[in-house]
Amino acid sequence: MDKIALLKEKNLQALKGGGDKRIIAQHKKGKLTARERLQLLLDDGSFEEIGKLVTHRSTDFGMEKEIYPGDGVVTGYGTISGRLVYVFSQDFTVFGGSLSETHAEKIVKIMDLAMQNGAPVIGLNDSGGARIQEGVVSLGGYADIFLRNVKASGVVPQISAIMGPCAGGAVYSPAITDFILMVEHTSYMFVTGPNVVKTVTHENVTSEELGGAHTHASKSGVTHFAVANEIECIEHIKKLVSYMPQNCEEDAPVYPYEAGDEMRAKLNGIIPANPNQPYDIKEVIEELVDVDSFLEVHKEFAENIVVGFARLGGRSIGIVANQPAYLAGVLDINSSKKGARFVRFCDAFNIPLLVLVDVPGFLPGTDQEWHGIIINGAKLLYALSEATVPKVTVITRKAYGGAYDVMNSKHIGADLNYAWPTAEIAVMGAKGAAEIIFKKEISEADDHEAKLKEKEAEYVEKFANPYGAAARGFIDEVIMPDETRKKLIKGFKMLENKVVKMPKRKHGNIPL
Ligand code: HXC
Repeated sequence: MDKIALLKEKNLQALKGGGDKRIIAQHKKGKLTARERLQLLLDDGSFEEIGKLVTHRSTDFGMEKEIYPGDGVVTGYGTISGRLVYVFSQDFTVFGGSLSETHAEKIVKIMDLAMQNGAPVIGLNDSGGARIQEGVVSLGGYADIFLRNVKASGVVPQISAIMGPCAGGAVYSPAITDFILMVEHTSYMFVTGPNVVKTVTHENVTSEELGGAHTHASKSGVTHFAVANEIECIEHIKKLVSYMPQNCEEDAPVYPYEAGDEMRAKLNGIIPANPNQPYDIKEVIEELVDVDSFLEVHKEFAENIVVGFARLGGRSIGIVANQPAYLAGVLDINSSKKGARFVRFCDAFNIPLLVLVDVPGFLPGTDQEWHGIIINGAKLLYALSEATVPKVTVITRKAYGGAYDVMNSKHIGADLNYAWPTAEIAVMGAKGAAEIIFKKEISEADDHEAKLKEKEAEYVEKFANPYGAAARGFIDEVIMPDETRKKLIKGFKMLENKVVKMPKRKHGNIPL
């Protein structure tokens, strides 16, 4: 925190006068400079700059008179907690951080180094997009970066922090990377800004409404994290990196952990007696994982599914969990997309998956069907089926219909499937099922209601438990909630050296 205090003091001095005008302008907007951001991100003294003296080659529009060494982006490498990362940090004070041919070349150079040397790329974005004065060469520069983003995808982790207005091409590179973080009130992302929107669609919209952090965290799902300020943003990046390996051929770092009492008595009282009553799956997660190790991803988007990183006995895991406290934990378009994207990241980077299941099924309705719940629900099904990392499932309560299959069932390749005694595994809920299969009996009964209730109870007796599935081996063990953490630590340890050989192919065709 000393570093932060120092920066604040420096900012204050600059504001009092005598400082660089461009830096003061940046500070006045509540933003740090490109170099200050890197100073906060990287270990002290670890940063090595590459291309500090690079200048643009443009001579149109009087550009030959405006030469700034570095050309609006600081690039290089350094370490975070001793681990190598490649970085670029755009400087809004130079032509609005816009991307020239040479600015692009600098980013491409460090991306190539990152791929060849197997370390993450972190981009601190603050850019008005393609440098307008340069025309097609700046567009080409973007395309060169996009190509590197795609080639690096699944090879090294790529993280994009949005720390100012990012327009045009400046949003598509982050969109291809693995994680996006946005700073509230000082960062925006849009393909076309409010002025163009007004001209084309006659909509009046502010930058904040159109592409602010909150909009992208909750409405579009474009950003994975919306954070209060730049310092928090940088702290989040460091935390995020701590769960990841350096590249696809390595494992995530293991943190020291001493085994202790792994029983968690609180979990025995977490499922309400009434199966229709909600509870917060995050309370279950907090009990299962190492203390304070859960980092939720996409917190404000599709809250009916919870995804995030955590540690279990010091080792990184990815968690995908239905959230009964939001829309009863139903699977819909957005939750399926959110879950699928997270699963694919974990699988690409050797992070084992824990899936917690309490799902009443897929969300019915015209809205969902017309917007493609079929193709989007299939994304989650595909991603979990495709994943070859260790996969463990715990059914806490409902596992109904197709959602049972999708949520990491034994049938799609889960390695260990546990169920709590409160698990209900069936094709559909008791009332709906009784109305269909006992339709004739119910309609012929003197008291329809009483008959329906009786048949519902019969159905519950037969299916609203995990024992039918356990008898078939689809559930490996029915466990008490309080012993779940212990079972998971042992289970993931047992799966540590899992190897799956896949048939040769170019690539699969996930339903995009
Ligand atoms: C050159 C640019 C620039 C750009 C900003 N500047 N964007 N210079 N090329 N793309 C310069 C401004 O001229 C100004 O210079 C300085 O940066 C700060 O900009 P301001 O407008 O004063 O700042 P602000 O009010 O904060 O607004 C920021 C902004 C706005 C929202 C980013 O500048 C803006 O709308 N810029 C253009 C965005 C855009 O349409 N980009 C092109 C997209 S096309 P001075 O000298 O006055 O300080 C694209 C194609 C890629 O990217 C396609 C890939 C798929």
